[in-house]
Amino acid sequence: MHSSLLEPYIQELKTLSCQRPILDLACGSGRNGLFCLKHKIQTTFADIKEQSLHDIQQTINNGKTTFDARSAYFSQVDFERSNAKPLTENSYGAIMVFRYLHRPLIEQIKAAVIPNGLVIYETFTEQQAEFGRPKNPDFLLKEGELTNYFTGWEILHSFEGIKTSDTGSSQQAIAQIIARKP
Ligand SMILES: C[S@@+](CC[C@H](N)C(=O)[O-])C[C@H]1O[C@@H](n2cnc3c(N)ncnc32)[C@H](O)[C@@H]1O
Repeated sequence: MHSSLLEPYIQELKTLSCQRPILDLACGSGRNGLFCLKHKIQTTFADIKEQSLHDIQQTINNGKTTFDARSAYFSQVDFERSNAKPLTENSYGAIMVFRYLHRPLIEQIKAAVIPNGLVIYETFTEQQAEFGRPKNPDFLLKEGELTNYFTGWEILHSFEGIKTSDTGSSQQAIAQIIARKP
């Protein structure tokens, strides 16, 4: 199920995607990118797992939901390879990251969005360790950390605390931000 965080911004993402595609970074099953694609938004799905990208392609082609397959792009990429620069500057209208954190990538993500483009970020905070996985501090945001990364950007939405998951099945400690690049 896609994140409800995207819903109010879908029209804006559509407009931005006319300039550059939207990137679903570390897309996994592609639940959020597929939501964009369903709204005829040009979307790039990127993940280290080739099988995940293959499964997304199958979903797009199986015809159960109408997707514009020509608006979908795929990138099998390791975002954590040392000394690599997997993202090109000003190449996406927006980048969305859900449930993935690799701190050295944050500045690249910001640079890869076009001026006036959006970063939509949601991932777990340190408090998540009380509820379940992940527990590794490398994957958990510290208090105020996400907001701090976007100093000088226009903050359209910001949240940090405990929320019920979109499926309603669990409580999770998360931080969310939607920020517009100056
Ligand atoms: C918890 S899942 C989140 C998936 C998706 N964003 C979502 O919210 O449904 C984390 C994803 O990060 C991907 N990932 C982990 N390490 C990666 C890396 N080094 N480069 C690219 N993707 C990676 C995994 O394959 C997995 O799909």
